[in-house]
Amino acid sequence: MTTARLLPGGPVAEMILAEVADGVARLRAAGVTPALATVLVGDDEASAGYIRIKQRQAAELGFDSPHVRLPASASQADLHAVLADFNADPGVHGVLVQHPIPGGLDYDRALQVLDPDKDVDGMHPVNMGRLALGLSAPLPCTPAGIEALLAFHGVPVSGREVVILGRGATLGRPLALLLAQKRPTANAAVTVVHTGVADWPRYTRRAEILVAAAGVPGIVRPEHVRPGAVVVGGGVRYERRRLLPDVDPSCDQVAGAITPRVGGVGPVTVAMLFRNALRATRSAAGLAGQL
Ligand SMILES: NC(=O)c1ccc[n+]([C@@H]2O[C@H](COP(=O)([O-])OP(=O)(O)OC[C@H]3O[C@@H](n4cnc5c(N)ncnc54)[C@H](OP(=O)(O)O)[C@@H]3O)[C@@H](O)[C@H]2O)c1
Repeated sequence: MTTARLLPGGPVAEMILAEVADGVARLRAAGVTPALATVLVGDDEASAGYIRIKQRQAAELGFDSPHVRLPASASQADLHAVLADFNADPGVHGVLVQHPIPGGLDYDRALQVLDPDKDVDGMHPVNMGRLALGLSAPLPCTPAGIEALLAFHGVPVSGREVVILGRGATLGRPLALLLAQKRPTANAAVTVVHTGVADWPRYTRRAEILVAAAGVPGIVRPEHVRPGAVVVGGGVRYERRRLLPDVDPSCDQVAGAITPRVGGVGPVTVAMLFRNALRATRSAAGLAGQL
């Protein structure tokens, strides 16, 4: 029997996407057509599927979505050339490179070629630096999504003890920076644990909010959770399309509130991508803070 209150991401994503659709409509009414470009390298079916879903969603929200598909044989220079073209095109406001990209290519190097202001994933080193300094920037989607999810469900974060299991560049590290910022929906006492902290359960057991960000299926078990704590499942691994979350389902019995196994952080992450694209368009059009 589940005792924890569920914290679904669906309603959060719907709210954010409705705001984005409204923002896009206002921009279009002002004569600006927001464009979110997508780049796919190779013929991995799952990646192609994810890009199709994002393109469909972009179209529904009112974005133009120019797309470039490079063959698996493409070189690093080919990928950089595509990004340079999008950088130079004032009609393109955001660029998404679907990852992972084929083995021979370096995603991080490609990301560095992208104009940081068009980086809708919020992962460009310049944007990570802006995040660290508390400057305005496209925020990394999953961490920003977790902050939004907690705020939407009325989970107080300010002044509370947050423990993050994992210090990866996508999730744990930027989330720690975000939730430690001086803002009503953040402002937390943040601790990050990882493989260097052998006795990490000592920390997670005292967390008022525990975020799993390890990518190790079932690593968070009930004995790692403080009774009544809020548990956010960010880390997942995909094995043959099966989603294997970090948080063991039995944590429902101990947590006070918990994200669902499916439909938790994921949908909010995608919504944040479009929010970043909207914001990028506004600032490129000189309309930040307006519309
Ligand atoms: N839900 C979503 O929409 C979404 C979006 C993006 C990412 N994710 C997921 O988020 C997870 C994290 O991604 P990432 O790229 O930020 O991280 P990552 O680079 O995969 O790093 C994982 C982190 O977990 C730590 N870790 C792994 N095994 C551990 C163990 N046994 N004990 C303690 N710590 C352990 C690692 O410690 P060390 O640093 O010491 O190695 C590392 O800091 C992945 O599962 C990813 O799929 C989910």
